[in-house]
Amino acid sequence: MTVGVPVHLGRPRPASVTGGALAAMPTAGPLVDTYGRIHTDMRISVTDRCNLRCTYCMPDDGMSFLPHDRLMTADQIVRVARVARALGVTSARLTGGEPLVRRGIVDLVGRLADVGFADLALTTNGTALAPIAARLADAGLRRVNVSCDSLRPDRFARIRRRGELARVLASMDAAERAGLAPLKVNVVLVAGVNDDEVLDFARFGRETGRVVRFIEYMPLDADGTWRRDQVVPGARVLATIDALWPLEPVAVASGDAAPATRYRFRDGSGEIGIIASVTQPFCGTCNRLRLTAEGTIRNCLFCDEELSVANVLARGGSDEELALVLRRAVWAKRAGHGMDDPGFLRPTRSMSMIGG
Ligand code: 5AD
Ligand code: SF4
Repeated sequence: MTVGVPVHLGRPRPASVTGGALAAMPTAGPLVDTYGRIHTDMRISVTDRCNLRCTYCMPDDGMSFLPHDRLMTADQIVRVARVARALGVTSARLTGGEPLVRRGIVDLVGRLADVGFADLALTTNGTALAPIAARLADAGLRRVNVSCDSLRPDRFARIRRRGELARVLASMDAAERAGLAPLKVNVVLVAGVNDDEVLDFARFGRETGRVVRFIEYMPLDADGTWRRDQVVPGARVLATIDALWPLEPVAVASGDAAPATRYRFRDGSGEIGIIASVTQPFCGTCNRLRLTAEGTIRNCLFCDEELSVANVLARGGSDEELALVLRRAVWAKRAGHGMDDPGFLRPTRSMSMIGG
């Protein structure tokens, strides 16, 4: 049986998918890689477009987007999701770009809810959420993560270049009213830009009950200007907050694959998350695979080696063939992102082209 044509984005094909290891790939059971990691979580990017231009993600102008006819259709997304569900994927998260700029998103959420994931969530920039939060919840969405990198309107505007803080805050309220809770707030910290707001965000979390998650800046900006000294280490964020409001780790089941390390305030005022992808990679417990907006399966944010499900769909391939593409993509996953390796190359795709 032939599977999707590999898409390599101009880089040489790594040994992992070409070597004899493929013969050892299981063709039944869960989606497992050669390191024994079982994959149960899928990020589904529904568009690479966005109505913002966050400095850590996109250039101010000149970003090129997929033509509409290259996007996976709703039918195709749902079909791949069903195949993934049958292979043991239990949670799905819609991403982009900005998922809410895709036409028909409420309907798509409803159809994905019918696939039967135990958890269905969405990451949004919060600009277009308020008017449709209730409809998304009714359609079966469970939770949302809202990105918000500053609580100061002028700085928010500088970082995100478009959009308005007040509107994002109103979206958070609307999401909670609609029952999309607990609400998580994603904060990408960039040294010298917004790292002086760590305590403000911690206070915001304590006062609102929202789970603020501090994310280390990753080399996934389209401008390619990321520098390691711009990364605010998670350990420093933790120490800063802990000095004022003591924290303790939240016990999680062993092998918990969530990227965020969770801490709760000892006085009972909620919890925060630290996503230290750069300084403390969590690749060893990674259980995620990604479906890009154009229909490729990507096994890691940092690995450009992708396999196409769009090709299989275009030639009328079967669910078994789609399943084989998913299996092969997961099987080819490397041990880690290798950001510290001397030969590390930043991925060709930036965050909005992958799906965060
Ligand atoms: N580094 C870290 N996080 C990023 N995001 C976008 N670009 C980057 C980057 N270069 C985040 C967004 C959003 C999520 C989808 O990814 O803020 O919360
Ligand atoms: Fe848009 Fe999200 Fe990228 Fe900001 S980080 S430009 S909101 S896709």
